[in-house]
Amino acid sequence: MDSSRTQYEKFYKADEYYWGKEPADFLERLITLKPPRRGMQILDIGCGEGKDAVYMAKKGYTVTAFDLTESGIAKTKLLADEMGVKINAYVDDINTFETDERFDIIYSSGTLQYLFPDQIAPFFAKIRKITNPGGLNYFNVFVKKPFIEEAPDWDKEETLWKTGELFAWYADWKIHYLDENIFECHSTETPHLHCMDSILAQKIIIKK
Ligand SMILES: C[S@@+](CC[C@H](N)C(=O)[O-])C[C@H]1O[C@@H](n2cnc3c(N)ncnc32)[C@H](O)[C@@H]1O
Repeated sequence: MDSSRTQYEKFYKADEYYWGKEPADFLERLITLKPPRRGMQILDIGCGEGKDAVYMAKKGYTVTAFDLTESGIAKTKLLADEMGVKINAYVDDINTFETDERFDIIYSSGTLQYLFPDQIAPFFAKIRKITNPGGLNYFNVFVKKPFIEEAPDWDKEETLWKTGELFAWYADWKIHYLDENIFECHSTETPHLHCMDSILAQKIIIKK
């Protein structure tokens, strides 16, 4: 895996956690809709340094998580040890990952824009297949707005999506939540704006 493809490999080598250790707010929605039961499987795609994956493992889910960066996965494992939980964390690429597992919850935060444009359709085909009936998907992605400048830590492999593009992949799922939000990001010394689309959807199987 060529992890020099993202600047995060370097950022995550620092001792401090680039994204902190506090879990993302959207996780509470997932927990409310699908409270942890023994063996309930989660996939975290682009887990960074593991703050969300480790939190969900602490809540009692069985968590699989991957990221392109070796430094991020090392920090994820360190955080899991610190919190006294086990998770299956490894280096992989959102564009090419394969799995034989099936999941009750699949989420990815801040990472879908690393999909190469020709890999977006195959990615959602794969996600649909590996989500269990009744399972949940939460995804967010950065979208293009003419009045928002490129972020200072933007990677060369990132592509901004169009407003609503993410939502269109879920036309036949039950939508629990849709949002578009502009917010200030402090990941660099220069605070900057992002526009983000988010969706929480559920795979409903119709019995015939
Ligand atoms: C904005 S960060 C979000 C990290 C984490 N989800 C969080 O919310 O803290 C984007 C993540 O995508 C990862 N990434 C970049 N390219 C990737 C790829 N091709 N496959 C998997 N992960 C990738 C980066 O290493 C980084 O951890």
